[in-house]
Amino acid sequence: MAKGAFISFEGSEGCGKSTQIELLARHLRALGHRVRTLREPGGTPIGEEIRHTLKHSKNNAAMTAEAELLLMNASRAQLVREVIRPALAAGEVVVCDRFYDSTTAYQGYGRELDLAMVKAVIDIAVGDTRPDLTLLLTVTPETGARRRAQRQANLPFMRDRIEESDQQFFDRVEKGFAAIAAAEPDRFCVVEASGSVENVAGRIWDFVRPALPKLGRW
Ligand code: TMP
Repeated sequence: MAKGAFISFEGSEGCGKSTQIELLARHLRALGHRVRTLREPGGTPIGEEIRHTLKHSKNNAAMTAEAELLLMNASRAQLVREVIRPALAAGEVVVCDRFYDSTTAYQGYGRELDLAMVKAVIDIAVGDTRPDLTLLLTVTPETGARRRAQRQANLPFMRDRIEESDQQFFDRVEKGFAAIAAAEPDRFCVVEASGSVENVAGRIWDFVRPALPKLGRW
């Protein structure tokens, strides 16, 4: 059985996940935990190549929703076996920037693929490797749209196929995340993330700290 703990962060683009993941990792390391931060898609050499194909490749414009679903989960299958399982077995805290809830939200709700099919593909990719805790960071649709536009403007030579999707797509993704979190209230903490970085980090820590001993590994 895994000895470590698995925490995932979810939310739409521009919700501040990367900053909060770094702050949480610093906090946990200061308490003596070994922490592994990862991102999806990506996190392994194979996964980073798949990430490029999904997001930035010049040749990805014709990608179908089904190909997107399978590529996300090919990257995930690799990450689970190459990195996450060994890290958990060694007692590390794994903090992942997105995991399978993103697939349910983006490919299921956003691209409107059949949710049972999406779940079946996720099951192949992860088996019984599932997050213990998931932080869902939310921002208003206006803030999300503004931050996506800023990111695109900061990377003018690097298009991002997924971030080019229309607002209705991102509205469906948000609805998806809300439904997923509501269905698993014990695993999820929903944090409204338009406040200050320190304030959001404080609320995340208030959720994570008491949960760690409950996982039975501290
Ligand atoms: P990010 O690392 O900047 O958040 O980019 C990852 C992108 O991939 C983001 O647009 C969300 C999307 N994504 C999916 O559509 N499905 C998934 O399963 C994952 C992990 C990410």
